[in-house]
Amino acid sequence: MSQDAVLDELVSAAKRSFADAASPADLENAKAQFLGKAGRVTELMKGLAALSVEEKKSRGAAINLTKQAIEAALSERRQALAQAELDAQLKAEALDVTLPGRQRTAGGLHPVSLTLERIEAIFGSMGFDVAQGPEIETDWFNFTALNTPEDHPARSMHDTFYVEGGTETAPNLLRTHTSPMQIRYAVQHVKKHRPLLDRGELMPEIRVIAPGRTYRVDSDATHSPMFHQCEGLWIGENVSFKDLKVVFTDFCRTFFETRDLVLRFRPSFFPFTEPSAEIDIQFQSGPLAGRWLEVAGSGQVHPNVVRNMGLDPEKYIGFAFGMGPDRLTMLRYGVNDLRLFFDGDIRFLSQFK
Ligand code: DAH
Repeated sequence: MSQDAVLDELVSAAKRSFADAASPADLENAKAQFLGKAGRVTELMKGLAALSVEEKKSRGAAINLTKQAIEAALSERRQALAQAELDAQLKAEALDVTLPGRQRTAGGLHPVSLTLERIEAIFGSMGFDVAQGPEIETDWFNFTALNTPEDHPARSMHDTFYVEGGTETAPNLLRTHTSPMQIRYAVQHVKKHRPLLDRGELMPEIRVIAPGRTYRVDSDATHSPMFHQCEGLWIGENVSFKDLKVVFTDFCRTFFETRDLVLRFRPSFFPFTEPSAEIDIQFQSGPLAGRWLEVAGSGQVHPNVVRNMGLDPEKYIGFAFGMGPDRLTMLRYGVNDLRLFFDGDIRFLSQFK
């Protein structure tokens, strides 16, 4: 084989060897075999020492060309391997931007929450504060302070969820109504204005509503073990049943967006009011026209309750009411089963957005 053929063969061998290298590390090993200290190109260079000056020149130039060709092949392969590595990485970490996005539908308020918002807005416009209170109550706030006697049926296990805590004779319970908020709110109000009262001056009126969850052992189409109530309380020096009628009539007409609606105050009994009245409404037109519908209990706050608020019942008087926002929601939207509100069925709930 001629010397040139040997050099050509060397370049080919290097190219094959580089092509076989599957990784950058393999390629560095392959490089050492040709261009390293003991590599084949280096060996050829060493062979030059034995040649004459003329031969050194031409042979040296030829070996240099060979070396350059091998170096070029090496760097080409290096780039190819780096590119392959990058391609593999891109492929592994690829985002498939053609996937359809996850749909997120806009949420909406629960129909009962919408009702509570309406109630708060309407009473707010009449100067009522909005108060929140605990759902786990003591016997005192839920019953005793509200003039409810020991033997009242609401105190029985059949009607009330008792929970841990409290005392043997007065265990804690899930509040059966929002009425305990009358006492809680009034006591705070009286405490805040104690200095005025002590000076014999007049306390600003108590005017508050207290919406929230309440609990009773009860379940059918119109009763749920958890339901909502909204308490109302207005106490002052001169607050009368007439005020209750005006306020509640105004509320109902605003809530149902009609003046075509009449109210009836039907005598009733509650331990914490005297006299007491059930409030019924009647639409004069529309699908519910002509039927009396009960919407709230109410009455003049009992002197014992006023006393438990820390006030003198000879000086302070007022009214309270307790209504059912769930029932108001059913009437407003024409829903006939209360349980639908609490089943969590999106198809039902999304109709109220
Ligand atoms: N707490 C009563 C109930 O759950 C409703 C009620 C009646 C509240 C008369 C009142 C009221 O404030 O004056 O049945």
